[in-house]
Amino acid sequence: MELVEKFQEFKDYLRKIDYLSNALALAEWDMRVYMPKRGIEARSDMVTYISGEVYKLQTSDRMREYIEYFEGVSDLDDVMKAAVKNCRKIYDQTKKIPEDRYREFIKVASRSGTAWEEAKEKADFSIFQPYLEKVTEFKREFIGYWGYEGDRYNTLLDFFEPGITVEKLDEVFGQLKKAIVEILGKIQNSRVEVSTAVFSKYFPKQQQAEFNTMLLKKVGYDFETGRMDESVHPFTTDFGNKDVRITTHYYENEFRSALFSCLHEGGHGIYEQDIPDDLEGTLLDGGASMGIHESQSRFYENIIGRSLSFWKYFYPEIKRNFKQFDGLSLEDFYKGINRVEPSLVRIEADELTYSLHIIIRYEIEKELINGRVEVKDLPKLWNAKYKEYLGVEPSNDAEGVLQDVHWSDGSFGYFPSYALGNLYGAQFLGRMNKDIPDLFERVEKGDFEVIHKWLRDNIHRHGAVYEPSELIKTVTGEELKADYFIKYLYDKYSKIYEF
Ligand code: CO
Repeated sequence: MELVEKFQEFKDYLRKIDYLSNALALAEWDMRVYMPKRGIEARSDMVTYISGEVYKLQTSDRMREYIEYFEGVSDLDDVMKAAVKNCRKIYDQTKKIPEDRYREFIKVASRSGTAWEEAKEKADFSIFQPYLEKVTEFKREFIGYWGYEGDRYNTLLDFFEPGITVEKLDEVFGQLKKAIVEILGKIQNSRVEVSTAVFSKYFPKQQQAEFNTMLLKKVGYDFETGRMDESVHPFTTDFGNKDVRITTHYYENEFRSALFSCLHEGGHGIYEQDIPDDLEGTLLDGGASMGIHESQSRFYENIIGRSLSFWKYFYPEIKRNFKQFDGLSLEDFYKGINRVEPSLVRIEADELTYSLHIIIRYEIEKELINGRVEVKDLPKLWNAKYKEYLGVEPSNDAEGVLQDVHWSDGSFGYFPSYALGNLYGAQFLGRMNKDIPDLFERVEKGDFEVIHKWLRDNIHRHGAVYEPSELIKTVTGEELKADYFIKYLYDKYSKIYEF
């Protein structure tokens, strides 16, 4: 019994981290949803202070004692083992770096963010370049402290996608890139015309909000433990499994944007709402990884939300609610929401070309971290890759290499998760189809509970107890493969574009 009691004591300690993290998340949610502009300074001070307290708890001697104690015990269950491993990782991540270097890095990273903003606004990479050079140097130096196996980039990947390596990514992304470029070629040679003009008619915000709320309820997002608000960029946050919030942004002259962002964030939200109570206070009460989280959001947004079956069920509802679609057939609506067009901007990309945007960033990050390219070469390299893979070329750096904020604070290793989400999702679908052979017939009839239950039983209920590579193997019986997603893309677009 002693072990159980000791673990309870450890959980009570972790609970403090959890409380503070929830306070931070709540402060950030408020900052992005309600806070008046001039509140920013006081709020930033508060966030900095609480973050410091979290850091102290994560790296205290007491934390080290707990970790070392449990690492010396042989009969831990899966949850205990994962909780200890997770704390060890967080502990080492900061403790292995000399304190003065870490403080120096934080300073540079925050200035770098401001420089990025200015550089993007003026479409001038040279403003950002010296900061990005420093941030990159720090990351290379930190990898030295953290240590690495195989490729240096593996250490960064491990923070976001434990168990995924450069070797694995080179394999699956290589296959995926080849397939997408091939499918894109066929689409560009297709004679099928897909129009999206109808989506730019006028759609009052209230009308969109009512429809999207109905949709979210129907697919399983629970408004008793959740709510939906507006923010500039849609996001999901939670303060435990009983309070999971999503946001969206309405454009009255673009119908698709809020619709699919709601389904996307709803997918993240459903995941968090399904986390079992007994994982609370272990720091494992969230998704298995960034990539697995994205697999759930993209499952609802794309695999279900952009399927013909889904709209066979919901299109009559659209017709009833929106006169704007009068005269438009289900088939043309379906083609419209699945139109493919290579573009410069990642966040506006369609389901097919999206992964190419990620693969480009992955290839660049890997070279940069290993010192095979330098920061000054990035704009050129970026533009060349966009031209080669997508056939488009930025006219300036704001719509090119400067478009994403992630590199400014050294968040390298994060982008791959977005494309991994697509691969995981399609592989889960493969298994789901075996378990529920009439899956899409049920979707046509509006039965979404069968999907929700499968995801809950197989994925959500585990929280972050298993690493993504273990989870995918347990759920699907196979290691991560690109084949499922490639087949999914091929099947879908060959029908739409008739090739
Ligand atoms: Co997401």
